[in-house]
Amino acid sequence: MGDIILQAENVHKKFMIDKKSNIQLHVLKGISLKIFQGQIVAIVGASGAGKSTLLHILGGLDRPNIGEVYWGEKNIFKMNDDELSKLRTREVGFVFQFHHLLNEFTAIENVAIPKMITGVSLVEALKDAENIMKLVGLSERIHHKPNELSGGEQQRVAIARAMVNNPRIILADEPTGNLDSKTSDELFELIKTLNRDKGQTFIIATHNEKLAERSDRILKIVDGYITSET
Ligand SMILES: Nc1ncnc2c1ncn2[C@@H]1O[C@H](COP(=O)(O)OP(=O)(O)OP(=O)(O)O)[C@@H](O)[C@H]1O
Ligand SMILES: [Mg+2]
Repeated sequence: MGDIILQAENVHKKFMIDKKSNIQLHVLKGISLKIFQGQIVAIVGASGAGKSTLLHILGGLDRPNIGEVYWGEKNIFKMNDDELSKLRTREVGFVFQFHHLLNEFTAIENVAIPKMITGVSLVEALKDAENIMKLVGLSERIHHKPNELSGGEQQRVAIARAMVNNPRIILADEPTGNLDSKTSDELFELIKTLNRDKGQTFIIATHNEKLAERSDRILKIVDGYITSET
């Protein structure tokens, strides 16, 4: 096995649902995991089990109440928000459950935006975005707005956007959520190809059992714990 690229130790997450009576929802109750470089890992579990919550914490988008997350050697929650968001732009790509593309921008602009945030020129960002659009098979759609794309195409744009800074880790939340089974299969094939060609590590939350079975590992969340690992 390769190096550990991402590690979580005893991660707890509680959401305050009623401040007055101090009622909290304890979603994650001590999650520990190690992810190795180049793996495709599926996270499964019922709706509401905490898959999105866990991905957000692993990606440094949300902080746990207790617990640590490491990207390589770096303990990410020891950093302040500014340091963390700078590092996240380079190290982690996120494919959201609801793709979060910006409707007023074209597909290629959506992909170029995270590149521009790293400080490169518009011309360079668009050039990189165009290359990645080619990689995900969307050369013919670069000037479409998100609402002028099919669901599967929107998801591929979301993957292209997550990849544009060439991050080592890509976290994908239900990337095949609303897609039919053929389009889901094609999208997963794309992930496999990117994983093989670019060595990127993928952590994918999914309800799609077929897809989970084709990944390298499956982690299952039940009642706030990881109950099984295959
Ligand atoms: N910001 C929040 N405030 C309060 N409760 C929240 C918040 N975010 C999530 N929850 C609750 O935490 C639980 C886990 O949510 P999460 O979105 O992680 O589930 P999930 O496993 O991704 O579900 P799905 O498969 O439906 O996407 C749910 O019961 C949800 O209602
Ligand atoms: Mg979810």
